[in-house]
Amino acid sequence: MQTRLLYLLLLAVSLFLVQCRKEKTPAGPETDAALFAKAQSLNGFAYYQDNSQIHRSSPQSAHKAFFRVRFNVIAQAALTDSGKLPQGGVFPAGSLIVKELQNDSLGTQPAGFAVMEKLPGDINQQQGWVWAEYKLNGSGYVISEKGAICTGCHSNNGRDDVRVFNLFP
Ligand code: HEC
Repeated sequence: MQTRLLYLLLLAVSLFLVQCRKEKTPAGPETDAALFAKAQSLNGFAYYQDNSQIHRSSPQSAHKAFFRVRFNVIAQAALTDSGKLPQGGVFPAGSLIVKELQNDSLGTQPAGFAVMEKLPGDINQQQGWVWAEYKLNGSGYVISEKGAICTGCHSNNGRDDVRVFNLFP
């Protein structure tokens, strides 16, 4: 009986410790659940060139017909060339770029998110970015695919693989 109690106590203590560790070290490998949550939040994000207008995708896009792009606070710090990353520039670690995928120009038919998160040390990074594309329910192209279908199109263009700057100057 006492041994059982001791086991339960040990279990409770270790669960507690695991929980504390989780809170103190957010910088583990990125997960789809966490990245999807970040992509949905608008907190601290700014739209490209401070303009929330929805654009028609360029003919070079593989994404939905319409979109707008937003940058988290860390990424915004690198947008020093009239809202663009300067030629040859590199986004700092922690930068998150979210492309809101839309089926119309009014934003009445959101279709999900394509995301690039700068995490050069992450197990799923490819060219320094973690790549994903989520539908509104969170399913989609997951980070463990390592951007295999993304990087060809986003391959280095002198602006850290981000396409919108040259196509929508
Ligand atoms: C066929 C080419 C192509 C493929 C494949 C592609 N993209 Fe894109 N992507 C574009 C273009 C072009 C833009 C610029 C906006 C536009 O015209 O839609 C863009 C924009 C983006 C943006 C906004 C930042 C930027 O680069 O402008 C993100 C984020 C993004 N794509 C993520 C992804 C992810 C993740 C994948 C893979 C699942 C992917 N893309 C696959 C062409 C592509």
